[in-house]
Amino acid sequence: MFSFDDRVVFTIDPRLTHQVLTATNHDYVTELAPFAGSSALHAAGEMIGPWMRARRVVRPALGDAAASGLDGRIVAILDAVLDRTAGRDVDVLPVMLDFAGQAVAELCLGEDAAGIPELLAANHAALLPFEDADYQLPAWVPSPRNRRFVRVHRRTVETLTRLVSARRAEPTRRPHRDLLDVLLSAHPAMTDKSVTSTLWSVLVGGHGIPAAALTSIVRELAIRPRLASDLAAEAGPPAGTEPYARLPLAEAVVKETLRLSPPAWMMTRVACTAVTLGEWRLRPGDEVLCTPYLIHRDPRWWSQPDVFDPARWETARPAPGTYLPFGSGSRYCLGAAVAMRQLTLATSRIAQRFHLHAPNAVAAEPAFCGRLAPAGLRAEFRSVPFGL
Ligand code: HEM
Repeated sequence: MFSFDDRVVFTIDPRLTHQVLTATNHDYVTELAPFAGSSALHAAGEMIGPWMRARRVVRPALGDAAASGLDGRIVAILDAVLDRTAGRDVDVLPVMLDFAGQAVAELCLGEDAAGIPELLAANHAALLPFEDADYQLPAWVPSPRNRRFVRVHRRTVETLTRLVSARRAEPTRRPHRDLLDVLLSAHPAMTDKSVTSTLWSVLVGGHGIPAAALTSIVRELAIRPRLASDLAAEAGPPAGTEPYARLPLAEAVVKETLRLSPPAWMMTRVACTAVTLGEWRLRPGDEVLCTPYLIHRDPRWWSQPDVFDPARWETARPAPGTYLPFGSGSRYCLGAAVAMRQLTLATSRIAQRFHLHAPNAVAAEPAFCGRLAPAGLRAEFRSVPFGL
C-alpha cells in the first residue's frame, strides 16, 4: 500500500484488495457519483439496500443461460456495425461503442430499444470531460459541461421513465423477453423509479467498458496477424458461426486482453467507517484505490506478466485478488457472463470475417482516461473474400 496524500491510499496487494472489495457495502461504499456533495457518504449508504435487492432480481436475467439466447443477435449486430464501416479507415472506439450500445439496449429493452444506443452515446460524450478533468465545479455552476451533463441526464431519465410506465401499462403480462420484463415482474414489486434506475445502471455498465475491451482486443489482433488467423481457423468458414462453447482460443484472447488491459483499471472505494487496512488506519471519507492494472502485471502473481500469452489460460487458475477485470465481492460485475460471451463471439467473428489493417496499432497505447482503451486506434476492417 502507498499514498500520495492524506486521504487517499492505493493498494496493489491482492489480499488487501480482496479484503476491501469483499467489505464493500459494510466498511466501504463504491465511488461517489459526480456532483456528490458533503452528504454523499450517507446517501451512498442509503442506496445499498435497494440496489442489492435490485441486483438479486437482475442476476438470473444476466446469467449464462439467459445470455446465450442472444448469441445470434450479438453476431448480427456486430456484422451490421462493421459492414457499415465498408472497409474505410475508422476510429475503432466509437464503432465498438455503437456495437455495445445496441447489444445492451436489446438485452435490456428488446423491441423498445430504438433510440437507446443514441442516448448512451450522448451520455458517454457528456461524461468524458469529467473523466479527463483535474477539477470539478459544483453542479449549480452553469458551466457548458455541467449544463450538458444535466440536460442529457434529464433526457435519459424521461425516456426510460416513459418506456417503463408504457410497458407496465400493457394489459397482459407477457413471457420474459428482456430485462425490463424481469424487473416488472419482481416480487416484491419494484417501483417505477427503482426499475428505471436499475435499467440505467445495467445499460451504462454494458456500454463503455465492453466497448473499451473490444477496442483493446482489435488492437491485439491487428498487432498479431498469426493469432488472428488461428482464431479464424477456430471459427470455421465465414458463412457460419461456431457455438460459444467451441471457441476456447477466442475466450483465452478475451481473458488475456482483460488481464493486460483491464478497462476498469482502477476501482475506488470510500471508507464509511473507521477501518484498518493492513497497517493503515482509515477514517470515514478516506479513499482506497484498488488497481487491477498493476496487480495483473505483477511478476509475483503472473509469470512474464507483460507478455500477451493467451496460452497461459490453458492452466492459469488465478488466486483470489490476482485477477480482477470484473471486480470481486458484493459488487462483482453483474454483466460478467454476458460480457464474456459477447466479447468471445465478437473476437471470433472479427477474426473470421476481416483482415485488420491498423498501421497505428502499436503506437495506440492504452490511455488511462476513464476506461483503459487504446488511444486513437484506427483500423480498416477488410472483408475476407468468401472461401478463403
Ligand atoms: C468487458 C466487459 C466488462 C468489464 C471488464 C466489466 C467490469 C466491471 C467491474 C470491474 C465492475 C465493478 C466495479 C467496482 O467494483 O467498482 C462492474 C460492475 C458492473 N457491471 Fe460490468 N463489466 C463489463 C461488462 C458489463 C456488461 C456487459 C454489463 C451489463 C450487461 C455490466 C454491468 C455492470 C453493472 C450493473 C455493474 C455494477 C454492479 C454493482 O455495483 O453492484 N458490465 N463491471
